[in-house]
Amino acid sequence: KECSLGIDIGGTKIAAGLVDRSGHVLKQQTYSTPKESKDRILDVLRETVITFSNLAKEAGYNINGVGIGTAGQVNYDIGRIISGTSNITDWNNIPIIDYLKQYTSLPIYLDNDANTFAIAEYVFGEARGTDNLIGLTLGTGVGGGVISQGDLIRGEWGGAGELGHMTVNMNGPDCNCGSKGCIEVYASGTGIANRMKERLENLESTDLTEELKVYQGNRNQLTSKEVFSWYEAEMPVAKETINLAILALSYGIVNMIHTFNPSVIVLGGGLVREREWIATTIQEHIQHKGMSSLIGTVDIRLSKLGYDAGLIGASSQVWFQK
Ligand code: BGC
Ligand code: NA
Ligand code: ZN
Repeated sequence: KECSLGIDIGGTKIAAGLVDRSGHVLKQQTYSTPKESKDRILDVLRETVITFSNLAKEAGYNINGVGIGTAGQVNYDIGRIISGTSNITDWNNIPIIDYLKQYTSLPIYLDNDANTFAIAEYVFGEARGTDNLIGLTLGTGVGGGVISQGDLIRGEWGGAGELGHMTVNMNGPDCNCGSKGCIEVYASGTGIANRMKERLENLESTDLTEELKVYQGNRNQLTSKEVFSWYEAEMPVAKETINLAILALSYGIVNMIHTFNPSVIVLGGGLVREREWIATTIQEHIQHKGMSSLIGTVDIRLSKLGYDAGLIGASSQVWFQK
């Protein structure tokens, strides 16, 4: 059986696995991202290449290549992370492809994680049948990939499509990227947690519910997961935080629609998974913002590739180069 090895390097976890040409995951494993050390991440990459080569041999699979998707800006031609992501320490200027070539003779492809997500949605997912789409991933960070007239927009050296760092509020909070009020500071997992922490700091202790009291002295334990569950329980501060995230994303999406005239925008990543209402809410918000000629022809869809979207995207580079 023919397959490829996909490796998806995110700010929180690394997913690796064997995936067939139709995007079905045959075997997979996840590791938590050793964010504090690029050498440890390279160790994980080496380990996955060796482990899965052996697994494939045992199972009688033939690996056609290695496809890696990573957070950060990738120099597509030379296979190097040029300027990494603020979500992983020192993930900069690393010749990833050259490094891995020491351990495998398979062809290796490397691209930004959200670019590969957009490609996966284009070839297997919710954007099949259109040549103009945008993929947005909402997880630890917010990533973007733009496919226009069937081609992925790469820019001068491969760094185009950092849509999560589009400013939606010039007076907004500082972002790790160096700018302010980016979509990511509102709508990523870390952004949602940080905005919630600010609200928590400003609440009078008499306004705190029992759940919130637990986190007041313990703020760094707070993640977007808690915020979402409080949102679902209709806690007002959590609702404000999530509503703001969705509004920031909606304005960002209006900018993207004005810039690229896509017909489909696919949302993926852990934050939106199985939350169809987020896509619906954004679709409603954008109707009343921006140019109706452009907005009126866009469908906001939720990815159906599930937990494996990143992995499938990464591996798809072996078969589909855009
Ligand atoms: C990074 C992007 C990445 C995204 C999702 C952002 O913070 O700047 O390069 O695609 O997170 O991982
Ligand atoms: Na991108
Ligand atoms: Zn930013």
